[in-house]
Amino acid sequence: MTVQLIYLVAALCFILALKGLSTPRYARAGNLLGAAGMAVAVVTAFVHGVEHNGLLIVVAIVLGVAVGIPAARSVKMTAIPQMVALFNGVGGAAAALVAFTEFLGVTEPDVLFRIATVLTVLIGSVSFSGSVVTFLKLQELMTSRPVVLPFGQILSIGVAAVSVVLAVAVSVVPSGFLLVLLALAGLAFGVLFVLPVGGADVPIAISLLNAFTGLAVAASGYVLANTLLIVAGTLVGASGTILTRLMAQAMGRPLANILFGAFTAVAATAASGEQRTVRAGTVEDVAILLGYAHNVVVVPGYGLAVAQAQHAARELVAQLEGRGVSVSYGIHPVAGRMPGHMNVLLAEADVPYDQLKELDDINPGITSVDVALVVGANDVVNPGARDEPSSPIYGMPIFDVDRAKSVVFMKRSMRPGFAGVDNTLLYNPKTTLLFGDAKDSLTKLLAAVKQL
Ligand code: TAP
Repeated sequence: MTVQLIYLVAALCFILALKGLSTPRYARAGNLLGAAGMAVAVVTAFVHGVEHNGLLIVVAIVLGVAVGIPAARSVKMTAIPQMVALFNGVGGAAAALVAFTEFLGVTEPDVLFRIATVLTVLIGSVSFSGSVVTFLKLQELMTSRPVVLPFGQILSIGVAAVSVVLAVAVSVVPSGFLLVLLALAGLAFGVLFVLPVGGADVPIAISLLNAFTGLAVAASGYVLANTLLIVAGTLVGASGTILTRLMAQAMGRPLANILFGAFTAVAATAASGEQRTVRAGTVEDVAILLGYAHNVVVVPGYGLAVAQAQHAARELVAQLEGRGVSVSYGIHPVAGRMPGHMNVLLAEADVPYDQLKELDDINPGITSVDVALVVGANDVVNPGARDEPSSPIYGMPIFDVDRAKSVVFMKRSMRPGFAGVDNTLLYNPKTTLLFGDAKDSLTKLLAAVKQL
């Protein structure tokens, strides 16, 4: 009874944590509350189970801490999606293994127990192998482009059908051997499911697999008769599903298209081979453009994170504001490499939250913006996503910076962004390119603006 009450308190902490995380103001408090709830849950589970499996639990905790803390501390912010993928996959595998062990230990499992076991093992296995493939793609240990196997679709349907047959079989006849076969089928399906997803769509697959792991954990809660696992797993499943939907919306494409449409990236060359010219400017040119503007919109992207240029950006903006220039930041929902990436970076540099504007705040008034300053962003300002139905990113909402009065595009080279798609904005006569590392360029710009 006491244990159930403590679990109820932990579950409340998780729900309030999610609520807090949905607004920047309470996100930190929400995070701490969720962590506190988790600590309470882990200690309770430990005390509850210590007399049976004390040594094993301690070994598991030591191993988890030894791997988890250094990994979380050393990971670069740009590599967090990979880490999330890996941790998520391990969570799915853990749920599957726990359910499998419980199943072997019960002599006469009832039908509900069998169904819960089957779901945990199947979904957990899919989540594990799928997450490993997404990790390999994001870490560039394999190609991040869609991999379409010969007869891949038929193979996937075949493996899915075999999984369903095995799942029904284990639910009817409890057999450890069939359960192993089911796990193998799940592992194969996870790989086949993620291989055709490519390029910018991989994070969406991670979010979906995260929701899968939540469901596997919730099902394992039935297996272990643990209410907290059911609640926590359901919360992860629901929030993962909502995040997946929001990300698909931000990219302007239906989820089915993302998962089954084989996102085909194209080479970063001009399609017709025609020679196109670009206009490269100097720091002094750009400083004049910015220093005498009425209003400026800064659009940060992945390059800001790579260069760690958030502080330099804030300082330049403060300098411009001191000159009476009105400045806001345009934050695209998929700028960078993880949801909220730009918000986190800019919050770290103490940029006030009300300066961060979304697509709908910026685009309607974009034609009256004097300068759109693109800092290490590319795909999120690519007009092809709006104008070229043949573009692989067609349909993704963008900042319409090509409609501003002028554009300053800061990057190091002519290389494309994450989606590997050429960007016509680079060749737009309104665009001045400022080549170089974003932090370096912003620092020089700040000095040049101060000289005006
Ligand atoms: P990208 O399209 O990836 O463009 C980043 C640009 O930054 C590149 O053009 C690169 O050009 C430049 N860059 C890199 N390092 C730089 C540095 N040190 N200094 C200056 N520039 C630098 O970024 P984006 O516009 O933010 O778009 C994000 C993309 O990632 C979208 O396709 C999105 O779908 C995808 N994605 C998003 C997420 C989430 S959830 N946010 C997760 C994974 C993938 P140079 O190499 O020439 O410098």
